[in-house]
Amino acid sequence: MTPGTEQAGSGRDVSGRPAVSTVPGRGRGHARRRGPDAVTKAYRRLFTAVLTKVDAETAHHLAARAIRVAGDLPPLRAAIAALSGNVSPERSMRVPALSDRPLRGPLGLAAGFDKNAVMVRGLAALGFAFIEVGTVTAVGQPGNPRPRLWRVPERGGLVNRMGFNNDGATAVAGRLRRLRRTAAGRRVVLGVNIGKSKVTPAAAAETDYVHSARTLAPYADYLVVNVSSPNTPGLRDLQQIEALRPILRQVQRAADAAAARAVPVLVKIAPDLADRDIEDIAALSRELDLAGVIAVNTTIRHDHGAGGLSGPPVRDRGLAVVSLLRRHLRPDQLVIGVGGISSPKHARAYLDAGADLLQAYSGFVYGGPTWPARMNRALTARRSPRGALRGRR
Ligand SMILES: Cc1cc2nc3c(=O)[nH]c(=O)nc-3n(C[C@H](O)[C@H](O)[C@H](O)COP(=O)(O)O)c2cc1C
Repeated sequence: MTPGTEQAGSGRDVSGRPAVSTVPGRGRGHARRRGPDAVTKAYRRLFTAVLTKVDAETAHHLAARAIRVAGDLPPLRAAIAALSGNVSPERSMRVPALSDRPLRGPLGLAAGFDKNAVMVRGLAALGFAFIEVGTVTAVGQPGNPRPRLWRVPERGGLVNRMGFNNDGATAVAGRLRRLRRTAAGRRVVLGVNIGKSKVTPAAAAETDYVHSARTLAPYADYLVVNVSSPNTPGLRDLQQIEALRPILRQVQRAADAAAARAVPVLVKIAPDLADRDIEDIAALSRELDLAGVIAVNTTIRHDHGAGGLSGPPVRDRGLAVVSLLRRHLRPDQLVIGVGGISSPKHARAYLDAGADLLQAYSGFVYGGPTWPARMNRALTARRSPRGALRGRR
């Protein structure tokens, strides 16, 4: 987690205060629990006093280490799950199009936070209903030079040009194999997001994705084909139908064969696509019988320097894309809404727009460690008439 007060590209403090205006925790369903409020207050103090003073990526690695250690120690993990106030099992929901395992609420962790699958159990203990690791590429790669992650606190967002820094499919698969050998690791609803290696030319993208799919599918509840990150040159061109069709088809085949079951495959799209392109991707998803679509990735439409912007600035477009997808996909195909969700109200807006499930990254960074469980508690306490909790599945 890397909240703070720097502006993209500048490395300077611009406000000196944590951006907490969008942090949930004071609304309905939260105030009764004193523990999480105390933790959230401590988190705000911590990032004002410490985390904002360090580079955003360094802060992320500090937080990642804490989450990893907590997740690896069963007594600590149990204490954290209890303190977070995770959704109780009887309130869990089933979304067979994604996984046979129960989900403790509709909100999961978006890709990019745990690129190498090192924090999965800790993140689950914090209350995310499902965890999407990655983006993982066939070949491990260092990503772009640092600095490559900045906070934009006045907008509650982040700008990144990480460039898919990750250990590669083989290393991550080894980690997931070990994770799935543990009881706690088997309980996690886990997605693996795959992307094209930088060294692979666009013409060979299909082979690259297929390699990752084959290597990682045996451990994943679902796979996501990421063709929408702005920080790998040419990647978003793969959103064009003629490029995308063979990639998705071969990924589906390779994943099913490697895992010896039907592996749900979803595609993740950019907010910057035109509506017509999104309708074409929906049509392709129907044609290929994909499990669904994840919308949206970060936007390049901003003036904070090179890289993708996340958080509240992408919410309106995210909602519009989700609504468009819902109208163009079959009812049994999933729409996972992501982009600028920082409160239960935003989450419900996505559900009402037609999302079946939700993900967040920036909201977690600014909201702190008790945010995921608070969100899922709020979302399971009052059932939305439409959306994920509408009992469609
Ligand atoms: C630092 C950072 C790294 C990200 N890395 C990835 C990634 O590797 N793969 C991916 O599909 N999305 C990645 N994303 C995009 C998020 O998964 C999400 O789609 C986007 O941030 C919008 O959600 P948010 O507003 O809740 O942050 C990244 C986002 C951030 C902020």
